[in-house]
Amino acid sequence: MLKGKHIAIFNIANKRSIAWSIAKAMDAQGAELILGYQNERTKASVEGLAQELHRAPAAILPCDVTFPEQIEKARETIAAKVGTIDGLVHSLAFAPREALQNDYVMTEREHFLTALEISAYSLVALARELKPVFSASASIITLTYYGSEKVMPSYNVMGVAKAALEASVRYLAHDLGPSGVRVNAISAGPINTVAARGVSGFLDILDVHAQRAPLRRTVEGREVGDTAAFLASDLSSGITGEIIYVDTGYNIMGF
Ligand SMILES: NC(=O)c1ccc[n+]([C@@H]2O[C@H](COP(=O)([O-])OP(=O)(O)OC[C@H]3O[C@@H](n4cnc5c(N)ncnc54)[C@H](O)[C@@H]3O)[C@@H](O)[C@H]2O)c1
Repeated sequence: MLKGKHIAIFNIANKRSIAWSIAKAMDAQGAELILGYQNERTKASVEGLAQELHRAPAAILPCDVTFPEQIEKARETIAAKVGTIDGLVHSLAFAPREALQNDYVMTEREHFLTALEISAYSLVALARELKPVFSASASIITLTYYGSEKVMPSYNVMGVAKAALEASVRYLAHDLGPSGVRVNAISAGPINTVAARGVSGFLDILDVHAQRAPLRRTVEGREVGDTAAFLASDLSSGITGEIIYVDTGYNIMGF
């Protein structure tokens, strides 16, 4: 499904990262990958995981989105190694821990700005800065969560950031559509990752999800990865600006 396609995935932290599930699914479909990591702490982990892929990544590069020069450098590396990319996966987010533990009304200005910058603005920055290396039918995929629409206690400012991210998906789809570039989000059900464990009460969210979702279980990273592979492929060529739920059906429930 993805044979001959080059896809950049930002960022993998460890084997539980959704970005890693996406990398494995895309690798299985024949894609050639560029893998991103945030900092030296996670670099070795990504290099180790890369050994498990069928094809060695074209590049493994640092991308802390709070440093614009790292995004520029990523574009230069992509241009030098593969010329253009057919896909960009934005699977990264951050909010200071205390913003995910206290009441939302207590959110400090600095924490609000940090969460919105890293979790939402970074998609805009990556889409703009990497535009020169997008192929004529490139697909951009980001990761969101239902806490953007409904109140999930403790998800707080991250829910607000995801609402901004989802709106950005639609505005970017409008801007980039004329050049053939598609932009979509996957709204994934809860998965036990480092980022998710920062949300106070996350294990309760997992329990309730498994009880209430139509499929009576939580979603697997593999299932999110497979949907990302579909969205990066030509099989989804008519889809842009959408939020696709991969959540074992949880979002359809009223009670
Ligand atoms: N795990 C879930 O339950 C769940 C559900 C829906 C959506 N998501 C979203 O999936 C995405 C990936 O998260 P995950 O759950 O795999 O957790 P994760 O902790 O494995 O991944 C988060 C990634 O964000 C990166 N990151 C943080 N700050 C950054 C910065 N300044 N610059 C660049 N990268 C930075 C981290 O290095 C890490 O690689 C996030 O957008 C998250 O909100 C997660």
